[in-house]
Amino acid sequence: MAGTPVAATPLEGWLRERIAREGPLSFRDVMHAALYHPRFGYYTNLRGFGASGDFITSPERHPAFGWLLGRQALDVWEALERPRPFKILELGAGSGALAEPLMLFLRDEVPDTVYTLDEVSPSLRSVQQERLRGPEFRWQGVDEPAHFIVANEVADALPVHRVVVRSRRFSELHVGLDEHERLSWVETDAARPEVEAYFEALHYKPPEGQVVDVCLELGEWVKNLSRRLEARGVALVIDYTASPPRDSLLTYYRHTLGSDPLVRLGQQDISAHVDLRTLVRVAIAEKLQPGATAQRGLLFNLGFAQVQARLKGPTDRQALARLVDPDGPGGQIAAVFLLRGLPGYRPAGAVGRDWPEPARLPSLPPDQDEADFLSQWREAFTASEENC
Ligand SMILES: C[S@@+](CC[C@H](N)C(=O)[O-])C[C@H]1O[C@@H](n2cnc3c(N)ncnc32)[C@H](O)[C@@H]1O
Repeated sequence: MAGTPVAATPLEGWLRERIAREGPLSFRDVMHAALYHPRFGYYTNLRGFGASGDFITSPERHPAFGWLLGRQALDVWEALERPRPFKILELGAGSGALAEPLMLFLRDEVPDTVYTLDEVSPSLRSVQQERLRGPEFRWQGVDEPAHFIVANEVADALPVHRVVVRSRRFSELHVGLDEHERLSWVETDAARPEVEAYFEALHYKPPEGQVVDVCLELGEWVKNLSRRLEARGVALVIDYTASPPRDSLLTYYRHTLGSDPLVRLGQQDISAHVDLRTLVRVAIAEKLQPGATAQRGLLFNLGFAQVQARLKGPTDRQALARLVDPDGPGGQIAAVFLLRGLPGYRPAGAVGRDWPEPARLPSLPPDQDEADFLSQWREAFTASEENC
């Protein structure tokens, strides 16, 4: 076709062909394809996070995060009167950066632990399998009920619809093609009925003209999590939240934050904050008892100060400070506990507990540049001492 712009990524080409055939797509379908398309999706091909990737999550920032969640797991195990085996399920386990230090802590405390990882991305599953070699790790049986379920930054990777209120009615932002066959936003006359129902259940209507990212799959995700929790058990959902939902879509590409999800399709991360009110409402309907704290509170209750006092290297200190930064992940991420069959139990991560001094802690390798700098500095210092 003369004048048709070249697709910037294979996924963009695939989407343009699909839209040319079927007409504009809901943003939910575009985001789903961008993240999970079986060939071109971002997560389908992802091999890791952290410095060499596009964004960094708390477990990637410092292994103390997973180690401290190991203490939370121990607390759950004790509250359940030490079941054997103790079954942990991690949803969306990324590179295994949470599982590894969590089990480093728990292995000595709870020898009979089965740790199952539910991972949608084939490439990340193989990264996990290379990294997590212990016999306790499993990738089968993800539907078996677990005593402790953990999901860190997974619900914010669920695809969302983009909606907007016009003349008191909802419409949707779909993705179509403009006259040059480039991807562009198209506003529909009316939104699907599920959007109206979602906001009715919330007792909330967004202001006129405000774009809102709404995850119609969140309720089903919570129900699914509830089905996978034992008759007595605890789920811990840790994520960025927006309550009520708003325009919260973010993109990450090589550590650069953006907000245009229609560029670098399949090559950048896209996420939207989780609607805490809906999460809690559905959890209560599922007979789960909810409670929430900020990530910062969670980590301090699990003994963060002890870790901080013991790991004094500059690389460790910097990464640890970020985990509890009130203006960053420490304050912006919520930790939501969902309890079942444990009346009276107050999770250590929510209320604190006296922890024994840790025997061993995971730390980061010192930054190479910093180690070089320090050794040069030491040499210079020794030389000047000798000269005195
Ligand atoms: C933002 S990453 C977080 C990874 C990891 N939890 C961490 O904190 O480093 C989201 C993860 O959830 C996975 N994921 C997304 N949707 C999923 C689903 N429906 N089932 C299982 N895993 C899913 C992705 O492949 C990815 O591993």
